[in-house]
Amino acid sequence: MPDDTRRPPMLPAVEAFVSTVRSLFKQGLSADEVWPKACEPLKEMLRDPDVAEHTKTWPTSPAKLGLEGKHANLLFYEDPDYGFVINGLIKKANAKTTIHDHGVSWTLYGVVDGGEQVLRFKRTDGGELGELPKTAVVEETETVDVSPGYIDFIKPWDIHAEYNGHGPTVAVIVRSQRCGTYVQNIFYKKDNTVEQYYGPDQIPFAFG
Ligand SMILES: [Fe+2]
Repeated sequence: MPDDTRRPPMLPAVEAFVSTVRSLFKQGLSADEVWPKACEPLKEMLRDPDVAEHTKTWPTSPAKLGLEGKHANLLFYEDPDYGFVINGLIKKANAKTTIHDHGVSWTLYGVVDGGEQVLRFKRTDGGELGELPKTAVVEETETVDVSPGYIDFIKPWDIHAEYNGHGPTVAVIVRSQRCGTYVQNIFYKKDNTVEQYYGPDQIPFAFG
């Protein structure tokens, strides 16, 4: 049973994950302690066959879901006490995101189906992470292949891009706070400009 009995229960594996994260916060751990510890429980949740089955019911429309650039996320859960959220995302084959950060938020990005490359970048113009600049120079530092079962761990202000493979990618994303509550940077390599925005639109959807 969820702690909050006013909402409909989600799948048991999702409820188990939520209650694990809530218990980490209840122990008094800080965000930089909680989120690394939440990766293994998220892996376990994504191994659950009911979770994989549920992803087949996720809508691929409105068309903004999974499109290049400023796409939308499904919003399954927002914690009433600690603010973290569970999102879903279906990306079209060969979709490429912008180069961006996730602002102050922590992100656990778990692939359920498909696969993609995550490219990491660093600023080489002397600017500091955590800024909201008008211009910045970024250079690629590494590429990680992300496949089902892998959790990509994105710290606040980490600069990255995701290049989808030849099929659609289905992902569950846990964020330390809901998109729309913090500012993110988008870095344009073509002219080194930086744009700020409030992240993907959030489309409420039931995980159960
Ligand atoms: Fe991202």
